[in-house]
Amino acid sequence: MTRLVGSRAELHEALAGRTGRVALVPTMGALHEGHAALVARARREVGDDAPLVVSVFVNPLQFAPGEDLDRYPRTLDADLEVCAAGGVDLVLAPSVDEVYPGGPPEVTVHPGPLGARLEGASRPTHFTGVLTVVAKLFGLVRPDVAVFGEKDYQQLALVRRMAEDLCLGVDVVGATTVREADGLALSSRNRFLDAEARAHALALSRALAAGRDAAPRGAAAVLAAARAELDGAAGVDLDYLELGAPDLGPAPAAGPARLLVAARVGGVRLIDNTGLELGPDLPS
Ligand code: PAF
Repeated sequence: MTRLVGSRAELHEALAGRTGRVALVPTMGALHEGHAALVARARREVGDDAPLVVSVFVNPLQFAPGEDLDRYPRTLDADLEVCAAGGVDLVLAPSVDEVYPGGPPEVTVHPGPLGARLEGASRPTHFTGVLTVVAKLFGLVRPDVAVFGEKDYQQLALVRRMAEDLCLGVDVVGATTVREADGLALSSRNRFLDAEARAHALALSRALAAGRDAAPRGAAAVLAAARAELDGAAGVDLDYLELGAPDLGPAPAAGPARLLVAARVGGVRLIDNTGLELGPDLPS
């Protein structure tokens, strides 16, 4: 049975005496099939009898003034159903006061240079907010394993880095992005796309697929193929298209790499990414 807890005390009482590796799936709610896949992955990681916790918390610290904190969807009843169907033991849905008693914390996690690039270039305080709340959730739940979606790939890379650099003792697992049949990556923000914007948004996954197809011909071919899908795509205001290493360092000459894209479509900021295997650049 899935139990809803809101306070630290209830959480600790619910976890007391439980054995097995604790798994955590941190979310901001508005759960969809993509989150259900994270839950399934967490269950596979720790096995049937271990405690599986999903946190539902819209973290004000990761939204800048003027961003969509107020209109971020809050759907706790539906979220509980998704969690129950996924065999989640505990849903931790704390209030802002429970997470940040006394207001925003004085000590926060600095994301380092990667936090200032890509998403961080247009959202300079975002990853400090994300890493601070994730560190806090790790402290509250004390998970052995935490599962994050590859959809927010830079977030995943930074959480991995934080866990490693600060020796947090949590195994950070990335789960593959779930897509609609036509390629659109699932996101809680997709509900804000009208029919026209939704059609326009497909340019992002098309660009990633074109880049992946071109990967055997090297980095320059990947970027050219992806850009050809985005240049002049109706309704797409491109923010960035970048190729990097799997840890988002500089792209390798050949081998595993990551292609990332961000754009505003119909007033909604969308991000997507794919892994690919680069072949050596061919002389032109
Ligand atoms: O990916 C999210 O939903 C959030 O950024 C996270 C990791 C739950 C932190 O608030």
